[in-house]
Amino acid sequence: MRTGLIFDLDGVLISTDIYHRQAWAAVAAKLGIAVDDDLADQLRGISRMASLECILRGYDRTLSMEEKEALAAEKNRIYRWFLESLTPASISRDVMEALSSLRRQGYSMAIGSSSRNAPFIADRTGLRPFFDVIIDGSMIRNAKPDPEVFILAASGLGLPPDRCIVIEDSESGIEAARSAGCFSIATGNAVSYGKADTAISSFGDLPDAIEIIRRKAAWQ
Ligand code: G6P
Ligand code: MG
Repeated sequence: MRTGLIFDLDGVLISTDIYHRQAWAAVAAKLGIAVDDDLADQLRGISRMASLECILRGYDRTLSMEEKEALAAEKNRIYRWFLESLTPASISRDVMEALSSLRRQGYSMAIGSSSRNAPFIADRTGLRPFFDVIIDGSMIRNAKPDPEVFILAASGLGLPPDRCIVIEDSESGIEAARSAGCFSIATGNAVSYGKADTAISSFGDLPDAIEIIRRKAAWQ
């Protein structure tokens, strides 16, 4: 049977996680809240509104839904401004080479992202042709750590979740992969979480990590 690879986008295929952080920092600063490393890591993988709720935990006033929606819209405007600068050169050589090589080897490949901006990023950077399926934040009811995004991605690839490997940089994403019944590879911030099946420190290590999982799962 085929094997599926489901990639998170922000912080895995491209460093847009930095732009998410900078956009939230600008919005939070108006409320007198600082987005430190710890808070920024908690925002990885979770939805736009869940991110705002997380930031507001450090705030002493209760905001109305209209105020929250205005802040989330402001964050997205700033984030989209950063995204305008993206080009195919925004994808690292490591990532491009790994995707081309995995594609040639016949893996079925998907993006599974909580972001409603994922299709825009995939188009701006030329990532789209590498993937059979892109599941983004507008296609799911529940963002990570809910497994919905990965269950949909596996189903879009025509594979059972336990025949798919998720590559993630967030704790919420590793939890989502585990709940979906997928195997998982941690990168970046998720490495220290320690709950993925294996971890990589750079994209060049991806083929070895996939091999470790293939053996663990005893796939033919
Ligand atoms: C990704 C990012 C999160 C972000 C979420 C929603 O999962 O890691 O930090 O909150 O997407 O993104 P959006 O672009 O829809 O606001
Ligand atoms: Mg991510």
